[in-house]
Amino acid sequence: PFVVTENCIRCKYTDCVEVCPVDCFHEGPNFLVIDPVECIDCTLCEPECPANAIFPEDDVPAGQEHFIQLNAELSQVWPVITTRKDPPADAAEWDGKPDKLQFLER
Ligand code: SF4
Ligand code: F3S
Repeated sequence: PFVVTENCIRCKYTDCVEVCPVDCFHEGPNFLVIDPVECIDCTLCEPECPANAIFPEDDVPAGQEHFIQLNAELSQVWPVITTRKDPPADAAEWDGKPDKLQFLER
């Protein structure tokens, strides 16, 4: 499956959700996750993310392996999102900032 990683936090552009053919994105307060059971590896979402936050599970950046488990866990509790919405007003400021995991809201 594909995995949403750290740079989505506080960026949450939601461009990714429109292209997913199986509606496997789930939305939290400031982050999205992919349900690894539903994802069919179609690859369509990866190039849609302006923050380059989506990776195949086997290609998650070093040090972000814990996001594989976070996607699996949070997709079970957060609701599905299928329609794009406006990102946070300060999304561009957070794009590329390091150590954003501490800001993840559940
Ligand atoms: Fe959805 Fe395809 Fe992305 Fe998986 S790879 S989350 S099926 S768009
Ligand atoms: Fe997040 Fe990128 Fe989607 S920032 S909401 S994974 S388009």
